[in-house]
Amino acid sequence: MAYLEWSRAFGGRVVRAHADAMQARAGEMAVRLKNELDAGTLPFLSMGYVDAIRRDMPAILERARMYKNMLVLGIGGSALGARAMQRAFAPSQDMPGHDGRTLWIADNVCAVTLGKWFEKLDPKETCVVTISKSGGTIETISQYFLAREWLQKALGAAWKDHMFLVTDKENGFLREQASEHGLASLEVPDYLGGRYSALSAVGLLPAGYLGIDWEALLEGAASVARPLRENPASIKEHPAFALACWAKSLEEYSYHDLIFFCYEPLFATYGPWFAQLWAESLGKDGLGTMPVPATGVTDQHSVNQMFLDGQRNKACLFLTSGKAVKGPVFPDTLPEGWQFLAGKPFASLLEAEAMGTRMALTKCQVPLVHIHLDDASEYSGGRLMLLLEAATVFTGWLMGINPLDQPAVELGKRLANARLGKPGYAAEEKDLAAYLEVSEERQSF
Ligand code: PA5
Repeated sequence: MAYLEWSRAFGGRVVRAHADAMQARAGEMAVRLKNELDAGTLPFLSMGYVDAIRRDMPAILERARMYKNMLVLGIGGSALGARAMQRAFAPSQDMPGHDGRTLWIADNVCAVTLGKWFEKLDPKETCVVTISKSGGTIETISQYFLAREWLQKALGAAWKDHMFLVTDKENGFLREQASEHGLASLEVPDYLGGRYSALSAVGLLPAGYLGIDWEALLEGAASVARPLRENPASIKEHPAFALACWAKSLEEYSYHDLIFFCYEPLFATYGPWFAQLWAESLGKDGLGTMPVPATGVTDQHSVNQMFLDGQRNKACLFLTSGKAVKGPVFPDTLPEGWQFLAGKPFASLLEAEAMGTRMALTKCQVPLVHIHLDDASEYSGGRLMLLLEAATVFTGWLMGINPLDQPAVELGKRLANARLGKPGYAAEEKDLAAYLEVSEERQSF
């Protein structure tokens, strides 16, 4: 059975009474939850959009799966969920002998990689999926222009059969492109911001392309969302709210870093997904805790030293899963000093090292909540995503900030637009000029 284990969650500066004090706000949170569900502003939780996915996505999936490659163009929340699912549930792409469908995710401005994709992928065997809720993100739209050109040159008018869009149902440049060129598209529902959209077409179209069981992902998520949806007052007992109360008390007692220590190797890219969800949602008004994704056991030989003996400002979400593939068994022929391994499966190391690290963190006064999943299946992966999304939103509510927006990151985007000469950015152009007037102090190395 999946569970959260709380016996090591408190210690150091933060004690159970602090989280209990947060729990006292459950009534107020239940009212807010009900109001927001009624207003439709929490689609990741109400999941009303799922009917449209079940209706519209299979036809597009069938077309996409005719191609050997899928190139996803997207960034932030429009890419990280798909990558987490790809690595967790279709890991064979990175393993020897793979010659099946292959998913490439273009979520950066990397001229070398994009150039290589255009050089090496056969456009006839490739579909491009451009994913942007706003339909106007410069990194994504610029890649869309280049990919469109690449397809057009090779395929002429047939480029349209190779391009799918996932975007807002009415607004934005990509929606205009869908209408203008008659491109097949799927909708991102209102109020479903990027980092809460992994379990919509944003993440599920790439996942379904790879043959990942997207229905099981949705079912897993629904099993965690259902009690909140059907009875908002049940927030009081919900693990997502318990996590939020814990996280809020950590923040108040100056635990500034929240480690996401993943001891299910296949889920390692859930770390960056969670980091974006947590940071972009909660880093506001000088508040919030810094998510630190880490992979067990790899990071035992890296950042773990800092976790254990650096500043005492760290707490930890510690993830494990059961029923893992056990791997090959060590033979009896091991040298004398290694005989303790004989007869044990390779996976016994993971279990022992997870236990050792968990205990070491606790001994070093790192408050730790252990999240244990039944297994590394899609169903469990969907449950984990929904649990963490809900915990993030509830933490934001307790902090008194809006966990669904990201105003601070807009400044950098506006300045980049001004730098590129986009019209309408006169104020930012002036700011840039002033910034560039400061004499540089370069030191060669
Ligand atoms: O979580 C978010 O809202 C952001 O990270 C977005 O996903 C990211 O900025 C990309 O936005 P869009 O999907 O509009 O292109």
